[in-house]
Parts: sequence; structure tokens; C-alpha cells
Amino acid sequence: MPLTTTLKTPVTGPYEQPTGLFINNEWVEGVDKKTFEVINPSTEEVICSVSEATEKDVDIAVAAARKSFEGEWRKVTPQERGRLLYKLADIAEKNTDLLAAVESLDNGKSITMAKGDVGAVVGCLRYYAGYADKIEGKTIDTNPDTFAYTRSEPIGVCAQIIPWNFPLLMFAWKIGPALCTGNTIVMKTAEQTPLSALVFANFVKEAGFPAGVLNVISGFGKVAGAALSSHMDVDKIAFTGSTLIGRTIMKAAAASNLKKVTLELGGKSPNIVFDDADIEQTISWVNFGIYFNHGQCCCAGSRIYVQEGIYDKFIAAFKKRAEQNTVGDPFDNSTFQGPQISQLQYDRIMHYIEEGKKAGATCETGGERHGDKGYFIKPTIFSDVTPDMKIMQEEIFGPVCTITKFKTEDEVVAAGNDSTYGLAAAVHTRDLNTAIRVSNNLRAGTVWVNQYNMLSHQLPFGGFKESGIGRELGEAALANYTQNKTVSMRLAGPLF
Ligand code: NAI
Ligand code: MG
Repeated sequence: MPLTTTLKTPVTGPYEQPTGLFINNEWVEGVDKKTFEVINPSTEEVICSVSEATEKDVDIAVAAARKSFEGEWRKVTPQERGRLLYKLADIAEKNTDLLAAVESLDNGKSITMAKGDVGAVVGCLRYYAGYADKIEGKTIDTNPDTFAYTRSEPIGVCAQIIPWNFPLLMFAWKIGPALCTGNTIVMKTAEQTPLSALVFANFVKEAGFPAGVLNVISGFGKVAGAALSSHMDVDKIAFTGSTLIGRTIMKAAAASNLKKVTLELGGKSPNIVFDDADIEQTISWVNFGIYFNHGQCCCAGSRIYVQEGIYDKFIAAFKKRAEQNTVGDPFDNSTFQGPQISQLQYDRIMHYIEEGKKAGATCETGGERHGDKGYFIKPTIFSDVTPDMKIMQEEIFGPVCTITKFKTEDEVVAAGNDSTYGLAAAVHTRDLNTAIRVSNNLRAGTVWVNQYNMLSHQLPFGGFKESGIGRELGEAALANYTQNKTVSMRLAGPLF
């Protein structure tokens, strides 16, 4: 199979799409020469085929990452690591239109949102570039005869497995902290969206990273993903995706070499609106909270709780707002919501919608397909829901939310926390005391006040409860990519 193919997007015109595996700064075919098809979710047509990594390719990629970690990469100074990351960010920024277009083509997100993602990628890489020469240890005074210090050392070869909802952004969130701290990487992208990372891999070489530092493979979870999680020479695995697979990965790590594990998993996040909230502003945030990225957000505000005084007014206005969201062609600049990622996800979401209807919830709007091709689903709102319903408990990962009426603060905090997940939450109120009290009482890794989905690479992000282990972004992420070493020296005198 050729290792590149010419593709076209409405934004870029023809461009060269790499299709191989990126190992040791080279493009190669898989050992077994397997390939798989990449689907355009807007049209359901095949875009191209890419190489599929099997266990054998995983071994080769891990060996490349190991060699680099023990060899050339180890000798690169922290300042130089930072410089390489800055350079990578600059190249990505220069190629914003290309990266965004590939993302829209492969993932279906609107071109405007995809450009936003690339901006966030660049910001994240620059943020971690700045940390490269600020990784520090401590000296610790234990007694006059001893000199003791700690070092923050890289963990080693990191496997990183990412999902399809933010293909490039998840790539950046993972490589930024791993590379600035001196690790090497084997990245497995999601089988639904391999294309943008393959384009990006060329920039890694162009920026000047030594061979083997960052390897990018396309492939399936059960094959390449499983091989990485159970690999005996992978020192750490970082995963974003479903809670189900998070558990599988943790088990594989435990059963193999006890590699370090960080997990960023699902959510069913409460979005709480008090009577005194600015209703117009709140409706915009609630709408953005659930429908951004077609509801395919781990932190989506999918359980909406509205206080009784404004409940009727809120439902009417929110319904109107949801119906105004433009659903359609991602390459149309006015599109807000594109297709779901795959037939499988489309079916899963439609199944939840049917379950909701059967359980007796009222479908206020949506609940059906949009258009006649592509995996489009209309923005959907359910009311008259009860906590035992599936649509109230499980992550739907689509443009579907529930609305529940509440009376008191205590009642809504309890309802908000009534979930196995704890990734995010939000509270809308003009009362500062309510905002702070409720934020402190919600069991979630991120709480937004009078806004939603506003992530920043400077702010730690991650889950309480079954939403994950460890934190991404911010200074906090560095802890997941370094390990402490204590060096303790005798200065004088015998032990006895
Ligand atoms: P998934 O968790 O199966 O896939 C995410 C990544 O894990 C992909 O790269 C996949 O290849 C890999 N993977 C799958 N099985 C694996 C295994 N046995 N070992 C190692 N890696 C494996 O998610 P999927 O099936 O694409 O979506 C299902 C549900 O997961 C969604 O409906 C949503 O609820 C949730 N999800 C959550 C995400 C988040 O951002 N937290 C992202 C994607 C999905
Ligand atoms: Mg795709």
C-alpha cells in the first residue's frame, strides 16, 4: 500500500494525507500489511484506507520509544525539549487551516469548532514547552551527616490511547506533559479518526524531534490498544475514553507489569440552574453545555436541573434555543452541530432516545434523525424524567439531555451527586454564596459557575469517582509523567 494518498477538502483543496504508521520518524506499513477504512460521518462514504497496527507493530513502536528513551532523548537538555515543543506549536499554528479541515472531514465537527480545537492544541503545546526547564526537585535536610535531594524523573515509555471526539486536542493534552518531562511515546489514535494525527506526525519530524520520541499508530482497541496496555516494556499508559475500557486497561496494567495508569473517562454531569440566574445567559451556556461537539464531550452537561420558580419559562426558552442550533455540513461556516461519529454511536444514541420514550419521559424536541444521509441527530430534550431512568444514569454521548425540576439547594446537590460519575458540574446563580456553597458540595473534578465547557490548558481537568484517575492539563499533569527519585548521601562519620 502507498504510504500517502491525495485527499481534498473544501477548505484546503488537494493535500497529501499520510496513511502509514509513524515509527522512528519514518512512515512504514504494518508488518502484516493490514489496513482499514476511514469513514466520513457527514456522508457515510469512505475517505481512504490507513495502515492498521497489530501486536507486532506495537512491539516495533515500543522498541523504538525504548531505544530513544535510553539513548538520544535522554541527552537532550530540558531547554531543548522546550524549544522543540515551541517549534511544534509554531508549525501546527501555521497549518491551522489544514489541520482543522482534516479534523472536520474525519470527525464531522464544524470547521469553526475545529479551528478552535487547533488553537487549543497550539496553546497547550506552548504551555508545556514552557514547563520543560522548570521541572525541579528539592533538597531535604534530614540530619547534618546527610545530604538528600529529590529528582523529578520521566517515567519512560508512555502508551497513550485517545478517543475520536477531539482527535487532535486529546493528542496535544497527552503529548505536551509527556514530552516536556522527558518521556517517549507510542500514541494510538481512535480507529474512527486517525487522519489528523497522521498529518501532525509529519510536523513532529519537521520540528526536529529525534527518531522514536513520538510514534503514532492507527489501529483498533482490541488489537493495538490491548497490546499496549498489556505490554511488558511500556512504563505508563494514559487513556481517554469509556469507563468500560478504562477498567479493561487498568486490569491489563495490573496483570502485566503494573505500568502506571491515568484514566480520563466518562461523565453524566449535572448542570444546575437556580431561580435567580440570568435566564438568557444561562440558556446559552446550557445549550452549549450539552450540544457543543454534538454532545460528544466527556464533560457534557447532560443532566439539567432547574429550580421550580423558573422551570416552565426555562423549558420553553431552552427548547426554542435548541431548535435554532444549525445542524448540517461541517464545512459550512454557519454550522454549529455536525454528525455523530459513526453508525455505531448513532445507533447507541437512538437506542437511548427510544429507551427514554418507553420509560415515559416527554421528548420536548428532537428525538430523531436530521436529514437523510450522515449520522445527524436533532438536538433532543427530555423532561418528566426520574432518577431511575437509563437516560438519567448512563452517558449517552450525543445531543440528548434531561431536565428535572427541583425545589431546594440541598435536594439538588444530592441529586447532582447521585451518579457513579464525577467529571464536571455547573451552577448558574447570581448569588455568590450559593455559587460557592454548591460548587464546594458537588463531587466533580471541575465545577463551572455561570458558564460551561470552558476548559483551559492552565486548569487541571479530570474525574472524581468513576470518571477517572489522575489529572490532565495544568501543572497537575506533570505529576502523572514524572516520578520522584530520592538521593541520600552520607557526608561524614560511620553509621556506628
Ligand atoms: P472506547 O473507550 O472503546 O474507545 C476509546 C479508545 O480506546 C479508542 O482509541 C479505542 O481504540 C481504544 N480501545 C478500545 N478498546 C480497547 C481495549 N480493549 N484496550 C485498549 N484500548 C482500547 O470508546 P468508544 O467505543 O469509541 O465509545 C463508546 C462510549 O465511550 C461513548 O458512547 C462514550 O460514552 C464513551 N467515550 C468517552 C470519551 C471521553 O472523552 N471520555 C471519548 C470516547 C468515548
Ligand atoms: Mg472518521
